[in-house]
This record gives sequence, structure tokens and C-alpha cells, in this order.
Amino acid sequence: MERSFRQVLISMLLSTIFSSLALAQQGGLGDASHQKDSATYRHLLDNRSAIKRNVIMREDGVETITESDSPEITAKIREHVHAMKGRIEDIRPIHMRDPLFAAIFENAQTINLEVQNTDRGVRVMETSTHPYVVKLIQEHAKVVSNFIQYGYEEVRKNHELPTR
Ligand code: HEM
Repeated sequence: MERSFRQVLISMLLSTIFSSLALAQQGGLGDASHQKDSATYRHLLDNRSAIKRNVIMREDGVETITESDSPEITAKIREHVHAMKGRIEDIRPIHMRDPLFAAIFENAQTINLEVQNTDRGVRVMETSTHPYVVKLIQEHAKVVSNFIQYGYEEVRKNHELPTR
């Protein structure tokens, strides 16, 4: 009797651990850096009027410059972009509820993201050799610009995938 109670306890514990891991992988529950990363992008959204951004479309993706005159916001932009570069490289998804973000992470292996610091922010070259992934990158860059323009209202939206 005692043994079967222990077995039930162990199996409950294991199933909790496995379902939490599955959720974290899907970007649902959040991994270890999830809270920190969302605090950073929320800070950016709260200060979006202090952010300037320029997006240049390229045949193979985008070149973006995102900057601020406030040194504190410059630091947060850099922190966010370096954290997101890590998420793309290690495939640690975030914001998977939004189809566009889900597609970006599903194709993360074919995305190349180079970050250079500028005086007041970052210059990002985000490219791919896959034509459809180029479309995803370009659509995502527009959404980042919309985050700056419309703030949380834009974050609450689900963004449609570009046509193939
Ligand atoms: C004002 C708010 C924000 C700013 C200024 C910002 C800025 C950036 C920049 C500069 C990049 C590099 C790629 C590019 O330039 O297009 C980037 C990438 C990324 N951001 Fe943000 N972001 C903001 C909000 C958010 C939010 C709200 C989320 C998620 C909920 C998010 C998730 C991501 C992800 C996943 C990437 C990497 C994916 C990729 O570049 O394809 N960002 N962000």
C-alpha cells in the first residue's frame, strides 16, 4: 500500500516536471531567462517614445538601426537584442502565442542575426538564404517598428504569416 502511494507520488512529480519542460520549450511557461527578458521588453514598450528606428529591406533580409538619446534606454535596447539573438541561436522561443513569432523560432536555424553596437543603440543585420524566411524576417522587423509606434496594443495582436 505504502509502496503504491509512493509510486503515485513519483509519477505525479515526473509528469509535472515533463509538462513544465514541454510548456517552457513552447515558450508558454517561460524558461529561466523569460521573466528577465519580458521585464526588458516591457521597459522598452514603456519608453517607446524615446526610441528611434530605421529599417532597410534587403534582398536577403533586413538591416535595422534602433537607437535612443537616453543612455538608459540605449542599454536596454542592447540588452534586449543580445538576449533575443541568444534565443534565436539556442532556439529558446518567446511569445509563441503569436504565429509570426512561432514561425521565426521554427525557422531559427536558418536565420543569421549579426548585432553591432552604434553610439546610441544597435545595428542589426538579420538575413537568411531561404526566400520564405526572408519574408518572415522582414515581417518581424515591421512588427518591431509597430511595437515602438503602437506599444502594448500591438503586442496583444497576433500577426499573420506572410504568403509563401
Ligand atoms: C519597444 C519595444 C521593442 C523594441 C525596441 C525591440 C527591438 C528589437 C530589435 C532591434 C530586434 C532585432 C531585430 C530587428 O531589428 O528587427 C528585436 C528582435 C526580437 N524581439 Fe524585440 N523589441 C521590442 C519588443 C519586443 C517584444 C514585445 C517582444 C516579444 C514579446 C520581442 C521579441 C523579439 C524577438 C523574439 C526578437 C528576435 C527575433 C528576430 O529578430 O527575428 N521584442 N527586437
